[in-house]
Amino acid sequence: MNFTYKGKSYSIDRYPKSENRSLKAWSTADEHMLNYIVENNISLNKPIVYNDRFGFLSTVLSGQQPSTVINFKSQEKALEINLSNHGVDLNNISKINPLDKPETSFDLALIKIPKSLELFRMQLDQVHRSLDENAVVVCGFMTKYFSRKILDIADDYFEQCEQSKAWKKSRLLILKKKKNVDKQELINTIPFADTKSFKQYYGVFSAKNIDYATQFFAENMDVRLSDNKILDLASGNGVLAHVALTKKPDAEIHLLDDSLLAVASSKMNIDSKKAHFHYNDTLSDFENNTFDLIISNPPFHFEHETNIEVSLDLFKEVKRCLKKGGSFQLVTSNHLNSKTHLYKLFHKVNIIAQNEKFVVYHCV
Ligand SMILES: C[S@@+](CC[C@H](N)C(=O)[O-])C[C@H]1O[C@@H](n2cnc3c(N)ncnc32)[C@H](O)[C@@H]1O
Repeated sequence: MNFTYKGKSYSIDRYPKSENRSLKAWSTADEHMLNYIVENNISLNKPIVYNDRFGFLSTVLSGQQPSTVINFKSQEKALEINLSNHGVDLNNISKINPLDKPETSFDLALIKIPKSLELFRMQLDQVHRSLDENAVVVCGFMTKYFSRKILDIADDYFEQCEQSKAWKKSRLLILKKKKNVDKQELINTIPFADTKSFKQYYGVFSAKNIDYATQFFAENMDVRLSDNKILDLASGNGVLAHVALTKKPDAEIHLLDDSLLAVASSKMNIDSKKAHFHYNDTLSDFENNTFDLIISNPPFHFEHETNIEVSLDLFKEVKRCLKKGGSFQLVTSNHLNSKTHLYKLFHKVNIIAQNEKFVVYHCV
């Protein structure tokens, strides 16, 4: 897909690539933010950018040495691919950790408002501490995802919050004059099975309770005494790894997630000395035939998109990383009909448990 900005043409790719041509690498909300900056003659020097999933804004603005907050390993890879495709030196972009206070201060922030409004709060909380007095925060969103809560959150951090008119089904929220806000702990605590509670940063999967599919899987997970090396794939806050460890406390457990905030959260919840944490979107860290058991509540939703391809790619790698005779256990929604896909990869696909909503598969 091509986009022209200030006379220069950009072709931005998605990573991982998708066969679904309706899935785009950016939206009109991103374009709307750029148009606003140009039309209002806002100084673009060294902006900070949030939720730039495939690096569209960071690539288009690479001449202005932007800082980009990186939430996902796949986002970092997408950014690197797009910068390199445009001949941009990676050092032109500063990567910011979502949990750190940026070292520099900014007079412009661009935020594509995320689906998780708790994450939006966390991002405003981070950025407003690093803004100059006269800074402008330009937030973009697709009008259909508007919620009153967006305004309430923005109002907690800024005196002035103005909404733009709609343009190509997108709108902007322009924030100015930051308020003084006391430091807050932006972490949820979620009870589980009367015995344990899980801590997780805002924006990590299933913020209010342990997901129902996860609970159903936890009740039906089959861990054997011979399962010495276990991987929790797409581990979120680490709840499934915890369940596996209750059944096999001396196992070497690996947790892997694409989300930096998820991996950081799971470190607060799993205290086994034999736990290893992997911030990655693929299983490239692992050799063939590594695990006795791989457990997963795999990802099918990414922000407002539904995409089965990411999980199908992970399943292929699961097959590579399982020991001969090792097992892959996963939970999915009934309606996804994952069995057809699993049959293409595994010799045996059995159903361990099923209710009206979810199914737990056991693949060998
Ligand atoms: C449905 S949630 C499950 C989280 C946790 N296991 C649970 O049951 O609560 C899926 C997780 O997959 C992660 N994810 C998305 N894409 C991924 C990828 N390519 N590799 C690894 N994890 C990924 C998301 O960040 C999210 O934490």
